[in-house]
Amino acid sequence: MSLFIKKPLEQLMTQSSDSSKGLKRTLGAGNLIALGIGAIIGAGLFVRTAAAASEAAGPAVVVSFIVAAVGCAFAGLCYAEFASMIPIAGSAYAYAYVTMGEFMAWIIGWALVLEYALASATVSIAWSEYLNNLLGGVIPYEWCHSPFEAGLNGATGIVNLPALFILVILTLVLIRGTQESARLNAVIVFVKVAIVLVFIVIGWGFINEANYTPFTIPQSLPDHDSWNRHGWGGVLGGAGIVFFAFIGFDAVSTAAQEAKNPKRDMPIGILGSLVICTILYVLFSYVLTGVANYEDFKTAGKEASVAFAINTYMPGYEWLGTLVTIAILAGFSSVILVMLMGQSRVFYSMSKDGLVPKVFSELHPKFRTPFKSNALLLIFVGLFAGFVPGSIAGDLTSFGTLFAFVLVCAGIWVLRVKNPTAVRPFKTPLVPLVPILGMVVCSSMIFSLGKDTLVSAILWMVAGLFIYFLYSKKNSILRKEIQQ
Ligand code: ALA
Repeated sequence: MSLFIKKPLEQLMTQSSDSSKGLKRTLGAGNLIALGIGAIIGAGLFVRTAAAASEAAGPAVVVSFIVAAVGCAFAGLCYAEFASMIPIAGSAYAYAYVTMGEFMAWIIGWALVLEYALASATVSIAWSEYLNNLLGGVIPYEWCHSPFEAGLNGATGIVNLPALFILVILTLVLIRGTQESARLNAVIVFVKVAIVLVFIVIGWGFINEANYTPFTIPQSLPDHDSWNRHGWGGVLGGAGIVFFAFIGFDAVSTAAQEAKNPKRDMPIGILGSLVICTILYVLFSYVLTGVANYEDFKTAGKEASVAFAINTYMPGYEWLGTLVTIAILAGFSSVILVMLMGQSRVFYSMSKDGLVPKVFSELHPKFRTPFKSNALLLIFVGLFAGFVPGSIAGDLTSFGTLFAFVLVCAGIWVLRVKNPTAVRPFKTPLVPLVPILGMVVCSSMIFSLGKDTLVSAILWMVAGLFIYFLYSKKNSILRKEIQQ
């Protein structure tokens, strides 16, 4: 039987509407936008903005955000069509099953593990850093770093305990229920959006216009001679760095099976959260690079850069520095929450299809959440969070996300050609132009990731192929149905 057997679209739709025994439909449009913002605003904004400004773009990091947003918008428009059409848990994985067949679906599902599971690990590592910062550095280096990191005082990490701690707490919240998780997420989203707005409004008054000149980094500065580290090339390089800040809007689509009115609310959730975050990001980065000079972020302001800018250049607002740190900790928690939820929902779908063991779709008798899956994921994500440096996990996250984006864009085009009459409550405009541009922009960001990341990602994908041929292909429910 072909590797590319496809799940009939109609079958998937019936599966998604039969919600009596499955996941509960509890989320409205507002919840979905909050879910998106919950997953989007996090380490990318509060950590990567300063890094992109100092390493590549200068104050023009504002433009980097716009470039990255445009790339995400192409992919977001494609996600929205799929999510309104096939409102089923599993997101890009489920879409690929219908359009490009089981084998591609497996590949995309396997890549999504890199996105969701490793994003939760990456952000839990950032959470640990900020917690230690808030506590004045009382946690010994050994117990808040991976064994692959060494501090300036010669200490070597053993395990990142705070990162493991936050993962355990949020896994318990997730097991308790989607609605409870959504409620907690909504509170956190409110706090973090409020703090971003407060920083923008108060910081505006402290902007020093001189910090915007030069607008891009001059080539003559040391360490800025490569093409993507100065001038307008640096703006593109900066877009690659701040891309991490946008990861997560697609996580809205993993909750499609829990949406009350997915056809209308999915596009609103995906595109709405993307637009709101883009506006906040542009304003935030404009104020941050106006209050502090981008050169500060190479030295004293390299870590906890937002708190640094406030404490150094906004006299009288030290309280805001502390509040921002607390809000950042809360903000990171919601990113981890939505990412963990996304991962368990992708595995839920894959398990329903027989491609991963049944244990990943067993629901809790009372809470109706995939609790065993959540617990197993905790072990997997915990291994990364406890024992791997954040930068490695972060780059692999970007790979997995961009790879999924490329395949989703391709899928929209394929389905328009193969199944032009299917009902599409939301239609991606200008097909095939938008999917092609999405594929081009996202592929170029993939190739701008470092060689080590690409090699590790390829090894991960090869491991996935072994599992597919040794387990999933034999256990595929679709294959069994067809053979009967
Ligand atoms: N976009 C998420 C963040 O910035 C992953 O933390």
